[in-house]
Amino acid sequence: MNHFLDIHVTPADDLSAIIANARRMKDARDGLPKGTPDAEQPLAGQMVALIFEKPSTRTRVSFDVGVRQMGGQTMVLSGTDMQLGHGETIADTARVLSRYVDLIMIRTFEEQTLLDMAEYASVPVINGLTNRTHPCQIMADIMTFEEHNGPIKGKKVVWSGDGNNVFASFAHAAKQFDFDLVFTGPPPLDPDPALDGLYTIMRNPNEAVQGADLVVTDTWVSMHDPQSARERRHNQLRGYQVNDALMAKAKPDALFMHCLPAHREDEATSSVMDGPHSVIFDEAENRLHAQKAIMRYCLGR
Ligand code: CP
Ligand code: NVA
Repeated sequence: MNHFLDIHVTPADDLSAIIANARRMKDARDGLPKGTPDAEQPLAGQMVALIFEKPSTRTRVSFDVGVRQMGGQTMVLSGTDMQLGHGETIADTARVLSRYVDLIMIRTFEEQTLLDMAEYASVPVINGLTNRTHPCQIMADIMTFEEHNGPIKGKKVVWSGDGNNVFASFAHAAKQFDFDLVFTGPPPLDPDPALDGLYTIMRNPNEAVQGADLVVTDTWVSMHDPQSARERRHNQLRGYQVNDALMAKAKPDALFMHCLPAHREDEATSSVMDGPHSVIFDEAENRLHAQKAIMRYCLGR
């Protein structure tokens, strides 16, 4: 049994194998209606709990559909509806759930909640986003990059904006998949110091994106950020918007990514999001395929 807690704590060979398996499963489904079961049914008889303490569209639907395509069953649980939201400990919740289900995916606030779930559960636990990281997203993003532009090894990836949880998983991936990562953003929104050494900082976005193979951004205000910080963050980040002028400084075949949900005309313009460099909806689709491969890895099926 394997947990999937973060990219930096999963062996690089396992990460590559997961992406290869995701691509194989995606190809095998090519052209089939979404509700068609996979020819392989590795999750037959398996029950999966999907716990959300924060909102979600992509993670919720892609995990649910993925489990069903592989022959398993799901239950989607909201943190506030569970005793978890009323003071029951994570440890007790983990031990109880392990008596009912075969796999737990959790989207939560504090990383410690995820770690406690993994420590006390006797079934695999998958990180569906915490305040600190979002590894499933970046597995889909690596898969998407390689589908379009080949191996990501040695490529230049530029992140423009907030040094947030999605950036952190890109930083972990930079080491595991051996690509160069540049962060461009304002000093108050620099990434977690724990990520130092995994990326370089360039304050000027126009210089940072020179020669980029991939330009990435994300919302300026994450779900765990106080709404009171919204105006200040917008003022700090305005100069880091990904627009046509910025994309024009990247390589001609550069890709643009955003994990979504986006705030159009804030962190990225619609002209970029809907433009020729954008692969945002391929990223969203690949959440499904990548997570199916992650679940198989966790369950050893
Ligand atoms: N990208 C992502 O995780 O989207 P959701 O918040 O909709 O799940
Ligand atoms: N950084 C964003 C990602 C959402 C998928 C957040 O945490 O809200």
